[in-house]
Amino acid sequence: MLDTILQIFEDNRGSYVSGEELSKQLGCSRTAVWKGIRSLRAQGYVFEASSRRGYRLIQAPAKLDIPVFLSKLETQTLGRSLHYYDEVDSTQTIAQQKIAEGAPEGTLIIAESQTAGRGRMGRKWHSPKGKGIWMSLVLKPQIPIHFAPQLTLLTAVALCRTIRRECNVDIGIKWPNDLLIDGKKVCGILLESSAEDERIKHIICGIGISANLSLEDYPPELHAIATSLAIASGKEVSRESLIVAILKELEQLYQLYHEEGFASIRLLWEALSVTLHRPIQVHTPRGGIVEGIASGIDESGGLRIVSTQGEELCVFSGDVELFGKRDDTLAQS
Ligand code: BTN
Repeated sequence: MLDTILQIFEDNRGSYVSGEELSKQLGCSRTAVWKGIRSLRAQGYVFEASSRRGYRLIQAPAKLDIPVFLSKLETQTLGRSLHYYDEVDSTQTIAQQKIAEGAPEGTLIIAESQTAGRGRMGRKWHSPKGKGIWMSLVLKPQIPIHFAPQLTLLTAVALCRTIRRECNVDIGIKWPNDLLIDGKKVCGILLESSAEDERIKHIICGIGISANLSLEDYPPELHAIATSLAIASGKEVSRESLIVAILKELEQLYQLYHEEGFASIRLLWEALSVTLHRPIQVHTPRGGIVEGIASGIDESGGLRIVSTQGEELCVFSGDVELFGKRDDTLAQS
């Protein structure tokens, strides 16, 4: 029915269509028409409504310009095999299917919207149509599986450096995979890997960037904790240019990682981190809480903490809660 409503507005481009006319053409009640318009609004369509004249479609959700994207792409491998969708359940699931069909390293899945976008720890990822960058990248690094978390940190560094440069915003990394502006989340990374005999077969690197969402695009429960690049910078983001710049940065860091190992990525990560040298609490997946000062990153990407009791420990997964401000004098202690 939604497709038919859109077709009716396409046939009457720029003009009002009354509720009565819509219900006649669709063969349904006025309430059903109103519900249809409400669903389309939730998908990013903007309608003007007039009690006398009915509805007028004034804006459809943005779509990535794929020819423009491909003409700007500067990478050798990343994004060279591209699958673009209007709507999927999750780009991670599509990537899985493409790998089963033999997708090569660098294959990129991009969708305008996700109906079941996945976040870490079983959470949902809010992915409204045409507003963000919802993509999954297939990687096939020759590394042992216990080094896979290093690639989350590498991806966070690539995103942070690119977004700082392209959008001119003060963005930082919260361990392990959140990018924050003014304490609010703007990007997330979800790494899903598959291994055989301790060696990685493939990694699906899921990247979610809230690019052009406005406050009304978020459900109320996210207002206090999430933001977008457009809200923070006051400017609409060219998603094509940003993806191109991210893939270039990612490819360069990925090459550096293969040539020199994790050490240089770790230094870059530490410089961009908002987690280090300040009091934190880590909520671990088993429900425990570790409290202390975040002091660094270990060789496999785990977070080092000096606990309140003075004990040195390392956590490998969990949610970090930040307290106080970064204090670089704590870096020496
Ligand atoms: C997190 O911060 O919890 C990770 C969020 C990752 C979201 C991205 S959007 C593209 C890809 N597809 C998904 O279903 N999830 C990732």
